[in-house]
Amino acid sequence: MNILVVKANNRPASEAVSSKMYETFINNLEGVNVETYDVFAEDMPYLGQDLFNAFGKLESGEEMTDVEQRILAAKQKAMDALTAADVVVFAFPLWNLTIPAKLQTFIDYVYQAGYSFKYDENGQAVQLMTDKKAIILSARGGIYSTPETAPMEMAATYIKNVVGGVFGMEIKDEVIIEGHAAAPDQAEKIIAEGLEKIEAVAKSLSAVLV
Ligand SMILES: Cc1cc2nc3c(=O)[nH]c(=O)nc-3n(C[C@H](O)[C@H](O)[C@H](O)COP(=O)(O)O)c2cc1C
Repeated sequence: MNILVVKANNRPASEAVSSKMYETFINNLEGVNVETYDVFAEDMPYLGQDLFNAFGKLESGEEMTDVEQRILAAKQKAMDALTAADVVVFAFPLWNLTIPAKLQTFIDYVYQAGYSFKYDENGQAVQLMTDKKAIILSARGGIYSTPETAPMEMAATYIKNVVGGVFGMEIKDEVIIEGHAAAPDQAEKIIAEGLEKIEAVAKSLSAVLV
């Protein structure tokens, strides 16, 4: 049983709540095979024409430019990491209502027809990752869980739509820490409660897998 943790914040855990969530999860895992894919540490050129040029040159055998080689290698590395995982944990902040750009690039690398989903003969989308489970760990300073604010939340909602809705992973657990920036007097309590939940999620996973 392999766990892949996609870490999407390079701010220190002493400052960034989602980094603390990542750290808490990792520190409470026991007896499991865990890999971290740190999107800020990886060389990840943005998805664009370079990738399509690289695909063309793979076919033709023409020599690739530096960026074409890098994007092809980076995309393959992300896909290999995801392929090997039984459980995929995403630890990320909400920044400017959405996910960090580096996490978007990870998704861009693995969101591929024939790999994470496909179209059947009737043109219907088919999920290709139904054997995997996903865990969502996300922090957001404001409150986005009310009916009025939820439509603005495009970080956890986006990741769940992609990995759950399109790829077909079962969303096994979701821990959201929210509102600590909006209510600084309650921040300590809000964060501590969220971290406790993460501890329990990590321990339950360890218990299942040991
Ligand atoms: C660049 C940046 C953008 C942010 N944008 C938002 C936002 O749109 N809405 C919000 O409620 N909080 C926003 N925040 C606050 C974060 O959601 C909050 O700090 C949360 O803990 C997740 O980020 P962190 O893990 O880096 O701490 C932002 C923080 C940063 C650093």
